[in-house]
Amino acid sequence: MLILGVESSCDETGIALYDSEAGLLGHALHSQVAMHAEYGGVVPELASRDHIRRVVPLLQAALAQAGRSLAEVDAVAYTRGPGLSGALLVGCAFAEALALALDKPTIPVHHLEGHLLSPLLSADPPVFPFIALLVSGGHTQLMRVTGVGQYELLGETLDDAAGEAFDKSAKLLGLPYPGGALLSQLAERGDPARYSLPRPMLHSGDLNFSFSGLKTAVLTLVREQVEPLGDDFRADAARAFQEAIVEVLVKKSLKALKQTGLKRLVVAGGVGANRQLRAMLDDEAKRKRFRVHYPELAFCTDNGAMIALAGCLRLQAGASTKPAGAFSVQPRWPLIAPGSGAC
Ligand code: KG4
Ligand code: ZN
Repeated sequence: MLILGVESSCDETGIALYDSEAGLLGHALHSQVAMHAEYGGVVPELASRDHIRRVVPLLQAALAQAGRSLAEVDAVAYTRGPGLSGALLVGCAFAEALALALDKPTIPVHHLEGHLLSPLLSADPPVFPFIALLVSGGHTQLMRVTGVGQYELLGETLDDAAGEAFDKSAKLLGLPYPGGALLSQLAERGDPARYSLPRPMLHSGDLNFSFSGLKTAVLTLVREQVEPLGDDFRADAARAFQEAIVEVLVKKSLKALKQTGLKRLVVAGGVGANRQLRAMLDDEAKRKRFRVHYPELAFCTDNGAMIALAGCLRLQAGASTKPAGAFSVQPRWPLIAPGSGAC
């Protein structure tokens, strides 16, 4: 079974081909970061227009890489939400129209489910059940995952997502959009002993998070400085921020493992690329004897491969496809319906 995956929820256009037997055969990605950087953040209208420009060339590139033709595609999976409505509509309309022309069904996919399952694309994939720490630009959640479509929310952020806190703090330190990865590079040469920032909700007794106060703590540090900010200050403040957020993410993940008795942790979403987070989790995994899995770096942030994979796994788990043609997107869409424990 060959699944074509289409991702367009925010500022990356991704197209991929995933085969149920042979795995990922081809994927192509275009990031709009350079285009939005000029404005200091994503401009939704520009994002939609750029997705339109990119989808067809990316489809051609993915097909060429896979050595397959469109006629061989069995179903088209695409991100239905959550995300920017205009951006979602481009991928959705493209996928539905293509499937209609090919006379093949479609599989609307939840973007977070794509992230959640993305570590299964790696050479050493996790087996169910596991705890998932989902840390993206828009979400921070701890989940118990017992199978495809079987997700139980254990805790989540009450305000800013981890990636959002990285990006906002980066902006306060004068880094260009999207600053998360740049902040973490800066933090690597920062002095961890110079500043100590609060660890929000570390001892809250539950598995929830709150990161907006941490961003305010960075703002307070910045305000105490005389402009322009010096290089050493920026590196030390970045390090203090990263030390705090990583400690909270790691400790809450350990708590989720302990609480559920599970021995496997899967980290997914853009912040999963963070080196300090990975190093601390690897260290704890050795000491406390659990396994930790990450998506390959290329699949941490948004991509089409995770959507093709999620579509394929959904089909294999018995989910039904839908006839191509009629469609809608869901810019706001909880992965776990309130009170249901399932997606
Ligand atoms: O998963 P993703 O593509 O976003 C959503 O689907 O929302 O992740 C993007 C987020 C951004 O906030 C970005 O700053 C953050 O991931 N990010 C990082 C790193 N690389 C990307 N945050 C911390 N350290 C990194 N190395
Ligand atoms: Zn994402």
